[in-house]
Amino acid sequence: MNGMNDREESQRQREYIKKIQGMPQITGRKYLVVTFGCQMNERDSEKIAGVLEEMGYARACSEEEADILIYNTCTVRDNADKRLYGRLGVCKQHKNANKDMIIALCGCMMQEEHVINKIRQSYPYVDIIFGTHNIFKLPELLYTRLESGSQIIDIWKDTDEIVEDLPSVRKYPFKTGVNIMFGCNNFCSYCIVPYVRGRERSRNPKEIIREIEGYAADGVVEVMLLGQNVNSYGKGLDSRVTFAGLIGEVARIDGIRRVRFMTSHPKDLSDELIQTIADNEKIARHIHLPLQSGSDRILSAMNRHYTRQGYIDLAERIRREIPDAAITTDIIVGFPGESDEDVDDTIDVIERVRYDGAFTFEYSPRTGTPAASMTQLAKEKVQPNFDRVLQTVQRISKEQAARFEGRVMEVLVEGEDEKDSTRYTGRISQNNVVHFPKSGLKIGDFAQIRLDKCKGFYYNGIVL
Ligand code: SAH
Ligand code: SF4
Ligand code: F3S
Repeated sequence: MNGMNDREESQRQREYIKKIQGMPQITGRKYLVVTFGCQMNERDSEKIAGVLEEMGYARACSEEEADILIYNTCTVRDNADKRLYGRLGVCKQHKNANKDMIIALCGCMMQEEHVINKIRQSYPYVDIIFGTHNIFKLPELLYTRLESGSQIIDIWKDTDEIVEDLPSVRKYPFKTGVNIMFGCNNFCSYCIVPYVRGRERSRNPKEIIREIEGYAADGVVEVMLLGQNVNSYGKGLDSRVTFAGLIGEVARIDGIRRVRFMTSHPKDLSDELIQTIADNEKIARHIHLPLQSGSDRILSAMNRHYTRQGYIDLAERIRREIPDAAITTDIIVGFPGESDEDVDDTIDVIERVRYDGAFTFEYSPRTGTPAASMTQLAKEKVQPNFDRVLQTVQRISKEQAARFEGRVMEVLVEGEDEKDSTRYTGRISQNNVVHFPKSGLKIGDFAQIRLDKCKGFYYNGIVL
């Protein structure tokens, strides 16, 4: 992009980190990164936090307390955008109280021109804006801002750079997300992600393995491999590695006891992957397989490249080969042109596949996507269908959860139960939540727990 290779670039940023470390205005200063959106953003925020801590900032407990406040934004639906604008209003008051406060915005929303224009006009007190492709440039941008005092906007349209090995801090000591690829090439007609995250790029498998070995040596026991469509991992790389090959290799790393992944596109989930999961107890019994719609007509208008029958067959193969697997999904209701009969088809697929969990979203038009220029449905028409879908998924996932009641399952202890400090909360391989007495366990341990009582979406268990 700028003629420099990725290693030289990270070296250059390290020099800015050093310069900032030496600046008097950093002493005693605090940072906070607020994250909206998906696991990709969560992971990016860990990288941002790592860089800020390296510079000498300590983590703040609240937004008011922060001397540098970073919002890592999401724009997948309109309500994500609205939440940011609401928060920015409140920020103004924090900044009035702390004149030196720096407000920075980054993430998916910043890749949209109309957003940048609006922030320029209505939120001039924002100090730094960067995007999804140049997160690694934060040291340089912050240094420039501290030196110059003027608003800095640096947005790249796309990139082929993958800058590795800048520091990151993990939110949890025992688990972390790991990017295996960036971007998306699928262009589902409703979705903004390919426009804001750029073209699909896979990381080199050796780099991924080396990174995870480092985490394992540092006490991480669970990793989640992250990509918008992990099933197309490896395309464009010289080595002929598939996602199934990669995940098999990750599961062999000493110290890693559970491997999750997110997200699988149904159009190319391979039999090789199903077999790899079936053969490998370390790989989580959880497949998130977004359906979006159960109507062939809508699936085609969404540019999803599978049919309802193709999807049902795939889910049946998963249920047959990995009987304990939880299958979860995303569903959109209210896509342009969707009729009540189309929604009947979606409900029919839900009843056949019997999802263990599902996120149901109301369709939200995104500027610049093909679906945004189609004729939109009236809100009153969408609401009853949304409710029908929601009721169906809730009923079925409750019934599904009951199938593990009474079973003894391996649980990763993830934290204290928010409602009862004598208990812990953890997750089984299928991703369901379990609450249980502490019984001398530590956060990050694995324990055998009997799932005594299914409470709908979680279990109460006892430690064996
Ligand atoms: N790459 C993932 C999805 C990432 S976005 C995949 O393809 O599976 C997460 C979810 O947000 C999507 O699965 C979809 O259900 C929902 N979504 C994306 N764009 C949307 C829009 N414009 N309106 C409503 N929901 C949307
Ligand atoms: Fe969006 Fe489709 Fe890519 Fe998922 S696969 S991120 S829904 S374009
Ligand atoms: Fe949102 Fe960007 Fe993730 S738009 S869902 S944060 S990829």
